[in-house]
Amino acid sequence: MPLRAIAYVSQASPELSVARLQTVVEDAARFNRLAGVTGVLLHDGQRFLQYIEGPPDGLDSVYERILQAGSHVDIVELARSHLGQRQFPYWSMRALPVDASKLRQLASSDWSGFSRTVESDDAAPTAVDLLSALVRPMLSAR
Ligand SMILES: Cc1cc2nc3c(=O)[nH]c(=O)nc-3n(C[C@H](O)[C@H](O)[C@H](O)COP(=O)(O)O)c2cc1C
Repeated sequence: MPLRAIAYVSQASPELSVARLQTVVEDAARFNRLAGVTGVLLHDGQRFLQYIEGPPDGLDSVYERILQAGSHVDIVELARSHLGQRQFPYWSMRALPVDASKLRQLASSDWSGFSRTVESDDAAPTAVDLLSALVRPMLSAR
């Protein structure tokens, strides 16, 4: 089955409460499960960085919902590409709180092709490397 992924950043609407964000994520997880989409949503209190992956049809319908959501504005797509295999298959959606500096670092990292560095490589970590490092400690709390 072909797979694709999208990453974007956005700005939370000023009126978005913590309680409302929880509902948004629960709603997202429910829809993503049906669409076969997995991923993660980083939030620093003001900005979002979301990574989603799945079959093209499912991904398109999820991204359309994201683009329509009033809970955030200024959506900027960071990358969109085909994938050989899922990189973050753990959750249909999960919000992870992160520092603003971490989110900024991720947003300005190399997202091209959603590639990872090889372990022996001394190249700078890619965005997917950094995202994996953030997600890894959460996996035991799945
Ligand atoms: C930051 C953010 C991430 C979202 N992620 C997803 C998602 O992964 N899948 C999905 O189906 N909907 C997603 N949505 C849409 C919400 O689940 C929900 O339908 C929407 O936010 C409700 O509309 P409102 O924001 O206009 O109140 C997202 C919305 C926001 C604001």
